[in-house]
Amino acid sequence: MSEILAPYLKAVEYIRSKSGGAKPEIGVILGSGLGSLGEQIENPSIIPYNEIPGFPVSTAIGHKSRLVIGDLGGKKVVAMQGRFHFYEGYTMEQVTFPIRVLKLLGINYLFVSNAAGGLNLSYRVGDLMVIKDQINMMPNPLIGPNAEEFGPRFPDMTHPYDVELRRLAFRLAREMGIHLQDGVYVACTGPSYETRAEYKFFRVIGSDAVGMSTVPEVIVARHCGLKVFGMSVITDLAREDMPDDYVKEIVKAANQATSKMTALFEKMIAAI
Ligand code: HPA
Repeated sequence: MSEILAPYLKAVEYIRSKSGGAKPEIGVILGSGLGSLGEQIENPSIIPYNEIPGFPVSTAIGHKSRLVIGDLGGKKVVAMQGRFHFYEGYTMEQVTFPIRVLKLLGINYLFVSNAAGGLNLSYRVGDLMVIKDQINMMPNPLIGPNAEEFGPRFPDMTHPYDVELRRLAFRLAREMGIHLQDGVYVACTGPSYETRAEYKFFRVIGSDAVGMSTVPEVIVARHCGLKVFGMSVITDLAREDMPDDYVKEIVKAANQATSKMTALFEKMIAAI
């Protein structure tokens, strides 16, 4: 067995042993406060991250820190309720470890979600934004020797988000009466929020929403050839002209939009 694959395969073996040998087709990462899709999964096998060999333990608020494997929309899915953030002190290898585990479990599709600050001046709290592209302000998770077993040294990133999945999302959302924004996500390390000057800078360079996750996972997912769909829930307004007493209430706003996102993800998964 290749030395590079060994730690990932150990996690895969453990997950299979706890899920009746499940071979999910679709992976879903549920961000801060967005975990409720996990409750819709039927016949679930629930595996806490701290039991899985090689998985770090998530510390972020609003995160449950477990894998839920089962049936959704007639498909076998594996959902991550909670993710690992760079700002928690994990290495990029730890942040993205689960992506390669899910790849080796057999997924072809990865749905990612996050709570994000709206930079686009037309966005409102509670909006859902389909991610059309991303800007990486974090270290690249592929720095270091290339894991040839997963993908090439210089992976193409001209289309990180799958065009067909994006089209499907807009078609289904129209049928469901769900309004979607379509924008560019910029990822910062955090944990401090951005300054007013940074909000303005990110808007000027073409970003519509800002957050502290997702981009490392998407880079590693694209490296190993997964088809990716991404969605941001706009949980606060990242604007330099906000009043001084503006309070960010991220988890609460996420909960309000999460049912729409959950319904859309479920329909998309059924339609794939
Ligand atoms: N900035 C960074 N990350 C975030 C924000 C924000 O305004 N809102 C939710 N996650």
